[in-house]
Amino acid sequence: MLRAPFSIHAAASLAPFTLPFPAPLRPPELSISFAILEPTMNRNPIKLAARAAVTALGFASAVAFAHGDVTPQAVDTSKLPPLAAPVDKNPYVGNPEAIKLGSSAFNQNCARCHGLGAVSGGIAPDLRYLPTDQPTDEYFKGKVQNGAVRNGVTYMPAFKDVFKEEAIWAIRSYLVSVHVED
Ligand code: HEC
Repeated sequence: MLRAPFSIHAAASLAPFTLPFPAPLRPPELSISFAILEPTMNRNPIKLAARAAVTALGFASAVAFAHGDVTPQAVDTSKLPPLAAPVDKNPYVGNPEAIKLGSSAFNQNCARCHGLGAVSGGIAPDLRYLPTDQPTDEYFKGKVQNGAVRNGVTYMPAFKDVFKEEAIWAIRSYLVSVHVED
């Protein structure tokens, strides 16, 4: 069960995200999740909790998405070594401060589409599977700066006016820290 640790991690951070939803909606949603799980569940409570978390997360991100745009949150990178010039390779990989900051920045700016804890609910790619090499560093930076717009449709917004480059590398460091091999 490679995925279980990620699901459990995600479950831990689920609470703050479910809070803004109207309280009366929550119990039925949860029972629906469990009803869907019932036929396939085995009796292992950890697996059950992990699956419930994934189902609830998918629902949470779908609701967040349906509620439209969330204002992008600027990221305070003052605790990271500043960059003198733009770079094409992640300068913070493995840096615990960057990973912590990146996790928070990700959950505020990216999770509504890419999933809490980077576990995708299916709306946008699951970024845990992105390769961790340098060409992907470069691709990642470009994608976050420019977003994904095709035929006038914005699939992903551009973040170049929101984030300093340091913030982008912090998020990249976080995603590398939760990387899963395909
Ligand atoms: C509004 C939803 C949305 C938000 C918010 C969003 N993304 Fe995306 N992202 C997408 C979608 C949809 C795609 C797939 C785009 C496509 O089809 O070209 C994508 C693609 C990507 C890719 C390319 C993945 C690949 O496998 O090629 C990266 C990297 C990425 N996003 C990073 C981020 C990061 C980091 C953030 C937060 C700073 C973010 N995204 C915020 C929707 C979003």
